[in-house]
Amino acid sequence: MDKLGISGKDSSWWVFTLPAFFETRNLYDEWFLFSLLPVFVSVGFLTWVFTPGGFAWKHGRNQKGPASITGPRGLPFFGSLFSLSHGLAHRTLASMSSTLGATQLMAFSLGSTPVVVSSDPQTAREILTSPHFADRPLKHSAKMLMFGRAIGFAPNGTYWRLLRRIASSHLFAPKRILAHETSRQLDCTAMLRSITEEQSAHGSVLLRKHLQAASLNNITGSVFGKRYDVGQDDNQELQELREMVKEGFELLGSFNWSDYLPWLSFFYDPFRINQRCAALVPRVRRFVHEIIEDHRLRGCDKLSDNADFVDVLLSLDGEEKLQEDDMVAILWEMIFRGTDTTALLTEWVMAELVLNREVQAKLQEELDLIVGDKGVTDADVVNLPYLQSVLKETLRIHPPGPLLSWARLSTSDVQLSNGMLIPASTMAMVNMWAITHDPEIWKDPLVFIPERFMEKNGGENVDVRGNDLRIAPFGAGRRVCPGKNLGLVMVSLWVAKLVQHFEWVVDPDNPVDLSEVLKLSCEMKNPLSVVAIPRNLVSCPSPF
Ligand code: HEM
Repeated sequence: MDKLGISGKDSSWWVFTLPAFFETRNLYDEWFLFSLLPVFVSVGFLTWVFTPGGFAWKHGRNQKGPASITGPRGLPFFGSLFSLSHGLAHRTLASMSSTLGATQLMAFSLGSTPVVVSSDPQTAREILTSPHFADRPLKHSAKMLMFGRAIGFAPNGTYWRLLRRIASSHLFAPKRILAHETSRQLDCTAMLRSITEEQSAHGSVLLRKHLQAASLNNITGSVFGKRYDVGQDDNQELQELREMVKEGFELLGSFNWSDYLPWLSFFYDPFRINQRCAALVPRVRRFVHEIIEDHRLRGCDKLSDNADFVDVLLSLDGEEKLQEDDMVAILWEMIFRGTDTTALLTEWVMAELVLNREVQAKLQEELDLIVGDKGVTDADVVNLPYLQSVLKETLRIHPPGPLLSWARLSTSDVQLSNGMLIPASTMAMVNMWAITHDPEIWKDPLVFIPERFMEKNGGENVDVRGNDLRIAPFGAGRRVCPGKNLGLVMVSLWVAKLVQHFEWVVDPDNPVDLSEVLKLSCEMKNPLSVVAIPRNLVSCPSPF
């Protein structure tokens, strides 16, 4: 019929013929419509009852391959929104997948959005490395905050590939990471000093704010080429930056119902996301624009190894030249991605070291033996296998993005090796937390044992950068985290220095609480408060 060109010309013909069967003059008759209502409700109900995965999987979407994808039905229209909009989604999903025997892949609905989640290394690898999963769904807040043009959310295509190339050959190139070591050391020294001051003034230290200050400064240094005196609370520019970053984190991290129920946005916006995004964007634009203008005025003929990211973007020419709004989005995204993850990961490491004093002692022993009296450098880290194992074990037990932070979106049907077929336009998540806590994969998964990564103790030196999906906290495939090396270098240096300079002991008034809260990253619900006792400073170098 299509070929004859008559299809759809009058698709409402049935409206006028159907009444004949029901002896009604017109289908638009209100009584007739009213009597049809129970029929529609029943059909809807039956569709829901017989659709594993819920409404978004109707019409057999989850049965397109030789093996079907099972999952919870959730509620009609809402799917699993109520179960996942609060609490710890990674734990809820892990328990659902295991109860339903759907760890390889589970289908569920978030409103009208069909979603799959993998809690298994093999299916996770196939999803993350598939070229048909190289897009991401764009949250409403991310779109409003201009992230659609930044690396993390730009759709797979020429523009995104260009950004990835610039990122890998400039900002995250090994020589640039190396060139920024001096500033990393400076930030670390400032952090050790402020910790010492707080410890002497209060008898304990709230570690997170020191880590966040150091990471913000470190990232603004690499991205904007600008450092702030973090002790100066009256610095207006720093205050403005902190406020904007905090607001952005809240907006991006909050669960927005209208992402999954678009009609809701017209009358329900409890967090005032639209209004707040609209207010934040011009502030961000103004702030970053001034920094770009400063760089333009200063000029930069030749890029040095430690050039900042603004200089790099300004130096692009020809087809690579970027619009100012694109630059704002890219630069702003780097500030977001780089600050939170590294500070929160370090806080988890330190919490585990306080709880596991024997691990802390072993780490100090390694540092004393290999580094001795001098200050730790990036180059030392390769010679500190126990430090690396402590980091890996923390990434295993507390992955900063337990659901790998940002989901993926299929751009066409994807057939998996287990026979399941994920249809196009499906959102896919990987539950890295479930994989790293799976007793079939990890012995005693709830226990903190860095030795499991030490070859000389019979452990396995597993790579965490995306090659081994049993532990891939930075994701994998084309959209793997481009900042993974920078992140690891920062956290390794901080932990080494913190442990070299202080003995970390439980604060008796605030025992360590490993409860989690899932925001943009998974963080400690109650920030870590600890007692930092300076180690024997005779054998330890002065940090100042
Ligand atoms: C401990 C530190 C970090 C962790 C655990 C982490 C984790 C992640 C994860 C899980 C993803 C998604 C990967 C995927 O979909 O396969 C990601 C993406 C990303 N990360 Fe990181 N990250 C960290 C540090 C950083 C840093 C320091 C930066 C930059 C300054 C950064 C920039 C990005 C960007 C731009 C993306 C998006 C990549 C894309 O979509 O093409 N990350 N990160």
